[in-house]
Amino acid sequence: MTENTLAFDQWIRTRFVELNTELELLYKQQNDRANVVGIGDNLKQTLEQEGNALIAKLVSEGNTDEGFDAAFDLLGNVGLFMAACRRHEITEPSRERTSPLVEASTLAMHIGSSIGVTPRFATAHLCTHNKAVDGKYKRFTDLIDEKVFIDYNTKGILGFKRAADALLKILPLGISHPISLDLLQCAKVALEDVLSSNQTLFDTLDDDEFFYAVRPYYKPYRVGSQVYRGANAGDFAGINVVDMLLGLCFANEQSYSQMLVDKFLYMMPEDQQILRDCMRRTSLMDEFLAQAKHANQPWFQQHLSMFLSVCEAHGETAIQHHNQLVNKYIEKPAEVMESQHLEKVTASGPPLSVLLNSLEKLRDRRCAADRDDIRTRFQDIHSLKALLES
Ligand code: HEM
Repeated sequence: MTENTLAFDQWIRTRFVELNTELELLYKQQNDRANVVGIGDNLKQTLEQEGNALIAKLVSEGNTDEGFDAAFDLLGNVGLFMAACRRHEITEPSRERTSPLVEASTLAMHIGSSIGVTPRFATAHLCTHNKAVDGKYKRFTDLIDEKVFIDYNTKGILGFKRAADALLKILPLGISHPISLDLLQCAKVALEDVLSSNQTLFDTLDDDEFFYAVRPYYKPYRVGSQVYRGANAGDFAGINVVDMLLGLCFANEQSYSQMLVDKFLYMMPEDQQILRDCMRRTSLMDEFLAQAKHANQPWFQQHLSMFLSVCEAHGETAIQHHNQLVNKYIEKPAEVMESQHLEKVTASGPPLSVLLNSLEKLRDRRCAADRDDIRTRFQDIHSLKALLES
């Protein structure tokens, strides 16, 4: 780390957190908690000035060629600063044509384009690639609900990644290989871990605190002239690897591939590579259907039964995400929110009803629901279950 990078990192880990936390406490004292206009203006000014001054030094320092990890980390710090400015409406994409944070935009675009990721902070910066110093990792605020949210997002993401790793390892072995049964079992356990950590998140995270003091840091913001959508816990390859390898979702279906195209640059380059590779593979479900002639073999019975349990566990995580997490933390609080703030609720930008509708379709693909308006594996799962000897 250069001296300037270190100074900025230290500021992000200390003063930045104090200023954001103080502002959150001020917003909370209002009747309309979602309002930020005219509140804590001196704190906002300090945040912007201190951040800009540190970033200006980094822009003039230029490319120090310290490798991917250092560059990605610095991009995260600039991104946290820009996201906080957006949260406090120091910047507001609908008000501006280009970001007033000129230095921060310059640095973010320089780094993002040089390492092949989007020039904003992404989920990996806060979750899987967030270095802790003396037990404390980077956050926007000191609020406990933010920590709960990040901890359990990280656990969820790592669970999906473990499931994806196990399923990927089946590809060179084939579904009839004896070790493929172990790998299917690993995937099942990993998805059950996701279910249990998401349940703890649901039981622990306060809905108001999340909605009013955590989620707003994940809004879209402008970098240079372009608006980049907010970060969400889905910005990693693992969940889609599971979707496609199980065969529950299709890379050649328009709405699904649209989602993949949109998320590529929000993922780490190694995740981009895994996802690209996985998009051209045959799914395990298609393998089982193609090998139905072996249905009376013990391996087929055992492996298929475990495969179906993995599909079921994956479907359960999707139901839980939609019916519990999205419902409790986004849909319900939005119902009571003052209408002037409503259009700013989602991280990706589309109106809430549109977002909910697409998340519902995703849920139904993952749990192979019986729908006639979208392609699901309801019928194929039914056919495979019929091959199981009871
Ligand atoms: C996407 C809400 C936790 C995985 C989304 C979206 C919302 C949402 C609203 C749509 C993105 C957008 O706003 O544009 C929530 C809430 C959570 C939560 C309220 C908890 C309070 C998690 C966790 C995971 C997760 C713990 C596990 C890794 C995903 C995935 C997507 C996504 C994979 C991308 C769409 C998909 O493939 O399903 N989430 N989420 N979320 N979230 Fe969550």
